[in-house]
Amino acid sequence: MMQEIDFVKAPVFTSPNSLVLICTEKPDGATNLATVSFFTYLSYEPPMIGFAMGRKSFSAQRVRETGKVIVAVPGRSLAGIAMGCGTVSGRDMDKAAAFRVKLQPVPGSAIQIPEDTKVAFAASLRETVETGDHVLYICDVEKVYGDEEKEALFAWNGFSKIAPAVKK
Ligand SMILES: Cc1cc2nc3c(=O)[nH]c(=O)nc-3n(C[C@H](O)[C@H](O)[C@H](O)COP(=O)(O)O)c2cc1C
Repeated sequence: MMQEIDFVKAPVFTSPNSLVLICTEKPDGATNLATVSFFTYLSYEPPMIGFAMGRKSFSAQRVRETGKVIVAVPGRSLAGIAMGCGTVSGRDMDKAAAFRVKLQPVPGSAIQIPEDTKVAFAASLRETVETGDHVLYICDVEKVYGDEEKEALFAWNGFSKIAPAVKK
């Protein structure tokens, strides 16, 4: 039987939820990585994606400042790293270096992505929409890269666990 539940409990019921790493360029040219579950496809033509981030996020600030982002779906070896990149801010630290993330370059971009990436969307910021305690970043996708061999990670039990999806 359906029961009224708290809004914050809904993501537990919809698990597994999307999981991406928001990859942005820091002022010193290094790449910042932040974990985000509020990610969605928005349009086929033109290709558009969106993600929502809290107001204090350094990644979100860098997306606004540079207009550029690469949204990367992490592969299974990055479960611990994705939890780490979702716990500390890159404002005062180099997360990729601290968590020893192996990065790879992306053609035509100053932003790098983890080597173990299932899908990457190289995108430009089109507009922002304030959505309560978050800001929605609506982006035009310029290039998409994918690796058939890799296994994507998802957020489970709401957002408390990071693991691949179980294939039935
Ligand atoms: C599984 C998981 C999902 C998350 N999803 C989001 C999200 O959708 N939006 C958001 O703003 N923060 C999300 N976070 C928290 C950010 O990753 C966290 O605030 C991070 O420190 C931001 O880093 P930055 O300041 O370098 O951008 C999530 C964290 C985890 C572990």
